[in-house]
Amino acid sequence: MDTKLTGKRALVLGASRGLGYAIAAGLAAEGAKVALASRSAERAAEAAGTIGNGAVSFACDTAKSADVDALHAAAVDALGGPVEILVLNSGGPPPGAAQGVASDQWRASFESMFVNLVRLADLALPGMIESGFGRIMTVVSSGVVQPISNLAISNAIRPALIGWGKTLSAEVAKHGVTVNAIAPGRIATDRIAELDAANAKRTGRTPEEVHEASKASIPAGRLGKPEEFGAAAVFLASEGGAYITGSVIRVDGGQILSV
Ligand SMILES: NC(=O)c1ccc[n+]([C@@H]2O[C@H](COP(=O)([O-])OP(=O)(O)OC[C@H]3O[C@@H](n4cnc5c(N)ncnc54)[C@H](OP(=O)(O)O)[C@@H]3O)[C@@H](O)[C@H]2O)c1
Repeated sequence: MDTKLTGKRALVLGASRGLGYAIAAGLAAEGAKVALASRSAERAAEAAGTIGNGAVSFACDTAKSADVDALHAAAVDALGGPVEILVLNSGGPPPGAAQGVASDQWRASFESMFVNLVRLADLALPGMIESGFGRIMTVVSSGVVQPISNLAISNAIRPALIGWGKTLSAEVAKHGVTVNAIAPGRIATDRIAELDAANAKRTGRTPEEVHEASKASIPAGRLGKPEEFGAAAVFLASEGGAYITGSVIRVDGGQILSV
């Protein structure tokens, strides 16, 4: 399949490792011009160097609106034109129960996981609408469909991206701009290893026991590979993905049990 991504200008957030990295690498492998970002300039630069194919990197903390504004300007400059493919990804929030989350934590997480991502989309949208082509993807979680225990902040805030994205998708579809969410189940990244280690500590099990229990809950019998997640994003970005919009695409090995 010809993805027709050669030369397309892409900006991927949270991309020094894990899912964001896999998406950035997948887009670059299809010939897209990729700008990637994460909080650490060093880690982002290392990722861009590994990806190669002209990928460029920036430091951007999604907790800071000024970072997001500066990133948009720098990416447009480095890519040589408006962003055509925008991947809104952010770091995961701390695990924890729904009870007793401090108000400051709720505000900080909402700022980092929603407000500043939407802000970046608003900066990129005029260029997409003008050119008649655009792809916006949010990286969410299986928790938007089936809330995950002890991940209250994620379960509460990520659905806001779904509601926003669905509303936006109807506004911009006529301009050739699609807006979709991709929901990972359990994809083998550092974040999942860190959550499993915290879970093991909390429940008095070994990380291996937690890992085995997690695998047993997935019909595919294994965790996903980051590149399998990246492949879904590449398809959504491609010409073939033009008629998919306003959707939540699950990449979960069948883990979410509802239809
Ligand atoms: N992996 C899964 O199966 C899974 C399942 C459900 C949901 N998710 C969610 O999907 C997202 C990506 O997951 P992942 O597994 O790839 O996580 P990860 O391995 O922890 O990677 C997170 C990436 O985001 C960057 N980052 C973290 N905080 C940031 C911030 N405030 N601003 C900008 N960049 C930031 C990190 O780089 P720096 O440290 O350099 O900033 C890193 O590149 C997370 O929100 C995670 O909770 C993942």
